[in-house]
Amino acid sequence: MKVELIPLQIHGDERGSLVSLERNSNIPFDIRRVYYIFDTENGVTRGYHAHKKLMQMAIVLKGSCDFILDDGNERVSITLNNPAQGLLINSFIWREMKNFTPDCVLMILADNEYDESDYIRDYDQFRLMAK
Ligand code: TYD
Repeated sequence: MKVELIPLQIHGDERGSLVSLERNSNIPFDIRRVYYIFDTENGVTRGYHAHKKLMQMAIVLKGSCDFILDDGNERVSITLNNPAQGLLINSFIWREMKNFTPDCVLMILADNEYDESDYIRDYDQFRLMAK
């Protein structure tokens, strides 16, 4: 599946920890957009879409949530609960995010601006296009 968990180096010392995100270093694309999801209500599942072109990296800065990822053939579940770990999600991966802890802050880096025409929001259409 075109997803990858990428360890992010922690620059730690007696003061605490720091992670740097840099394009073409630990982020394998030009970052053109950043958004974050927080204060998610109990029981909410978000996402329910894939992208035609967009590449994204998801990092949970605080708390935890689960990603359900589906390439049209297989479906995997990955728990993100570590701010030193990035989940790289390529195009044509259906994603659903759930089990957000109340303190969860989920940050997404993207290689392009928001473009509704890049979304595939119908799962059956996604399955056909992913073949
Ligand atoms: P939505 O696509 O429903 O989020 P998710 O897929 O994570 O469940 O987005 C929620 C709203 O935010 C929707 O009105 C579109 C808007 N939005 C932007 O304006 N810019 C963005 O970068 C994103 C991701 C969403």
